[in-house]
Amino acid sequence: MKILVTGGAGFIGSHTVVELDRAGFEPVIVDNLYNSNKGVLEGIKKITGKDFPFYEIDCNNADQVRDLFAKEQFDGVIHFAAYKAVGESVEKPLNYYENNIISLLVLLRTMQEFNVPNFVFSSSCTVYGQPDAIPVTENTPRKPATSPYGNTKAIGEDIIRDHTHSKPGIKAISLRYFNPIGAHESSLIGELPNGVPSNLVPFITQTAAGLRKSLTVFGSDYDTPDGTCIRDFIHVVDLAKAHVKALELLQSETEANYYDVFNVGTGEGYTVLQLINTFEEVNGVKLNYTIGPRREGDVEKIYAQSDKVNNIMKWTAEKSIADALRDAWNWQLKITAQ
Ligand code: NAD
Ligand code: WQD
Repeated sequence: MKILVTGGAGFIGSHTVVELDRAGFEPVIVDNLYNSNKGVLEGIKKITGKDFPFYEIDCNNADQVRDLFAKEQFDGVIHFAAYKAVGESVEKPLNYYENNIISLLVLLRTMQEFNVPNFVFSSSCTVYGQPDAIPVTENTPRKPATSPYGNTKAIGEDIIRDHTHSKPGIKAISLRYFNPIGAHESSLIGELPNGVPSNLVPFITQTAAGLRKSLTVFGSDYDTPDGTCIRDFIHVVDLAKAHVKALELLQSETEANYYDVFNVGTGEGYTVLQLINTFEEVNGVKLNYTIGPRREGDVEKIYAQSDKVNNIMKWTAEKSIADALRDAWNWQLKITAQ
């Protein structure tokens, strides 16, 4: 099974390429390197011992995508390629709608033209907003998006649902990721945040490495055991494996126009302070941090109910937050030393 992995040089895409190979799939990587670099491909090669085909293509370029589909006979597509910075999406909404929506339309159209039957889409728990009850199930109502980025995920899901229902002969799954963290245990691939990280774990590791002076914990007066926000932090390698399971489910699915959504989280919530304490304990590092005001737009608490993905996809998170924080720290040490 030859699988097109768009955004395959990115954080989650690169780890998924490794897991696809381990499971016997043949990944083909497409990335325009907007938020990644060719060094990632070297890391993948060192881990797998294989040099997968790589195309430096923008997924919005319908002609280039078409040429690629004509050259390679794909059995499925995993579509990671997107912009993902929530704050930036508020400042530059058109960039986000353009990149995240047009690339999706180009891929779905080209898949239909070339009869490629299986599609996996990177969605996000951001579609739930601040849920009325936790844990969230896939039936928890989506809330209006609080950022253009979040809206591209909700719109993306709707496009895929409507398209599959029109019976194009495409089976599709949207995976709603919770908070991916960590890195490959080899420290050969990991997260490469651009500029000042807005996500918690890269900010923690950069602070511990001395690249940032101090971490600010955004708010300690939330209605949670220690007052800090709760999230469902999932190891990126576990998340990568969920994509393999999604493809296997699509392969075995007999309904021609199947579409479904799955939460991909551990099913457990941790507070920001619990995460920081675990980071310090597992790595024997003291983190310089202060408690600051709440960050606008933050969700107080969210974590997944993961029964559906556990039962239907036969996928369960295997790694702990301690594993993820150790791997994230080793990765940080590696890239800081370079
Ligand atoms: P990433 O930025 O590390 O990876 C995305 C990759 O796509 C990058 O290598 C980038 O260069 C590439 N890309 C972007 N636009 C492209 C285009 N038009 N054509 C070709 N390549 C393009 O991000 P990630 O964290 O690996 O996220 C992957 C997907 O998962 C994204 O769709 C993101 O929205 C979604 N997601 C991420 C998170 C998270 O916290 N990281 C959470 C939920 C959902
Ligand atoms: C986690 C917690 C912060 C930084 C974002 C996107 C979401 C999804 C995942 C893609 C929060 C706190 C953070 C810091 C802190 N991405 N924090 N100090 O906000 O859950 O979700 O990434 O789909 O769409 O919005 O992740 O890592 O930014 O924050 O205290 O310097 O850490 O307040 O409680 P978030 P995050």
